[in-house]
Amino acid sequence: MQREQWNSRIGFILAAVGSAIGLGNIWRFPYMAYENGGGAFFIPYLFAMISAGIPFMIMEFSLGHKLRGAAPKVFSRLGIHYGLRLEWLGWFQVLIAAVIAVYYVAIIGWTISFLGFSFTQSWGTDTNAFFFNEYLQLGDNSPTSLGVFQPHIALPMAIAWAITSLAIFTGVRGGIERASKIMMPLLFIMVLVLIGRIVFLPGALEGLNYLFQPDFSKILDTKVWSAAYGQIFFTLSVGFAIMLAYSSYLPEKSDINNNAFMTVLINCGFSIMGGIMIFGVLGYMAQEQAKPLTEVVTSGVGLAFVTIPAAINLLPAPYILGPLFFFALVVAGLSSHISILEAVTSAIMDKLHLPRKKAAAIVCGTGFIISMAFATNGGLLLLDLIDYFINNIALLFSCFIELIILTWLFKIADVRDYTNRLSEFTIGIWFELCLRFISPAMLGIILVRNLVNTVNNGYGDYPIADQLLLGWGLIAIMLFISILINFASNHKEEL
Ligand code: ALA
Repeated sequence: MQREQWNSRIGFILAAVGSAIGLGNIWRFPYMAYENGGGAFFIPYLFAMISAGIPFMIMEFSLGHKLRGAAPKVFSRLGIHYGLRLEWLGWFQVLIAAVIAVYYVAIIGWTISFLGFSFTQSWGTDTNAFFFNEYLQLGDNSPTSLGVFQPHIALPMAIAWAITSLAIFTGVRGGIERASKIMMPLLFIMVLVLIGRIVFLPGALEGLNYLFQPDFSKILDTKVWSAAYGQIFFTLSVGFAIMLAYSSYLPEKSDINNNAFMTVLINCGFSIMGGIMIFGVLGYMAQEQAKPLTEVVTSGVGLAFVTIPAAINLLPAPYILGPLFFFALVVAGLSSHISILEAVTSAIMDKLHLPRKKAAAIVCGTGFIISMAFATNGGLLLLDLIDYFINNIALLFSCFIELIILTWLFKIADVRDYTNRLSEFTIGIWFELCLRFISPAMLGIILVRNLVNTVNNGYGDYPIADQLLLGWGLIAIMLFISILINFASNHKEEL
């Protein structure tokens, strides 16, 4: 089967940027920056971007481009070259993407619901009670005691699935590329309009001051560095099969270095725009309620579905700014969800030699059914627990192993030669130094720190049995399945 190809360079960049820019930029980054030293967080963040983000992106673009396959095929081909069996690492990454895909869509579903509520602010004045009690109907549930199915949550999730599945079914050019070409400019315009209005609100600049004011005492804390590196891998969609699949559709003549720099810089620039938007609103809200900003700022789910709705209530023309904010969040989420699903679909197509539509039907159909576990009273708790283990343990582990294999077992200099031959501007020895020494050292320390912390303290207040099953157990099963496929495959026949 002839491998599909992007139609244009800009189409590829928009798709890669669409993958990178997601929910993570709008609700995770601003709070993370604020909590980890404000302006001073930009030091570890930029360091992680330069030492890990950019080189990792160049490395994944080169591997996908050269080895022309989804993650399992890429690692399998790479391994064969050196007499090793590495397909498992590709499957492990695909499974990370699969798990993220099923809970990420739940958040998009909530966002679609809130887009609907935002026209009339039907969430009322007590947005906390609205989100947790009325919308989620969260009672005394736990991640393993999910309560009952909630059709009003399932329906918007089904809408999200319908949109992303359509892009995946239609293929690289007609679906993913076309969707990205519409979604990305739209997203930028919406966020620019929002920022343009928000920064002129009273108190908005105080909010920005809070975000950017550096607290240098924080940058000696390993927690801050861990947050910066964790965020970089998640936000850039590297280490979980996505960018390998996307770059495998690049035409032979492609400027890898330039594409990688653009993707990373546009994504990180967008995160700063997200920060300005969120903290501008929070500053305004603090002023309106005559409260210190520290009292209004919240993180993650609470930020998007409790604090922002409360802030929208106070905004001028809330029926315009509210829908604009939630629509931006929906678009950012959908374009990332498409890429996460494509990582899985392309792996299935490669492995089972299936045509796209069949592979897409298997992936989207199975994903849809599994994701319904999140359309329950306790869905949020299930999501929170799985998200923690996937992001802080599985994803960092996958990135660490990928780095060690590529830079210590194999010759990373070959990747640099390869990409430099293809690109207009060349990259220097810093690429190898970052990937061989700085990134593995940082990742190694952070991974050990996360492992020790999680083993000793667990995560949140969730019952230990739940953490063993849905955290550690899930990762162990993912590893087991990956290794099983690896050894059940007849590599030579497949390649
Ligand atoms: N990179 C995507 C995000 O930031 C997954 O949400």
